[in-house]
Amino acid sequence: MVRMLLVFLLSFMLAPLPITSVSAVQPEIEVWKSPSCDCCINWVKHLEDNGLTVKVQDVPSATLDRIKRQAGITDKLASCHTGKIDGYVIEGHVPAADIKRLVSEKTDAAGLTVPGMPVGSPGMEVGNEREPYEVLLLKKDGTTEAFAKY
Ligand code: CU
Ligand code: CU
Repeated sequence: MVRMLLVFLLSFMLAPLPITSVSAVQPEIEVWKSPSCDCCINWVKHLEDNGLTVKVQDVPSATLDRIKRQAGITDKLASCHTGKIDGYVIEGHVPAADIKRLVSEKTDAAGLTVPGMPVGSPGMEVGNEREPYEVLLLKKDGTTEAFAKY
């Protein structure tokens, strides 16, 4: 009898919290890009389609280069556009799901990058063509490791 009562009480203590306290508000992502880049626009659209709020800024390439350098994006890690969300840098055609995972897990890192512009990454669709690519986690010490593979 005592045991049943304990189970009863425990089930109350372990009951899930109301949804409202679990669903976090998605922070806004700020994106810097060249005014003449179509794949950037397609990537922004991919983010918006996946529920992210995007603030886009068209900047000259010298400004974009400076933003990349300041964020620790070397030539080897660079792509077209650069974004910032919740203190993280997001370089290139990173899928929205990886950005959300980075932010929600509060990963200890500088950000994410998809160097270059792999065909088939979000915003870089060419028919059904798919080039394998990795999303790299850029650590605060400048090193990288694989975060996701596609
Ligand atoms: Cu691009
Ligand atoms: Cu771009």
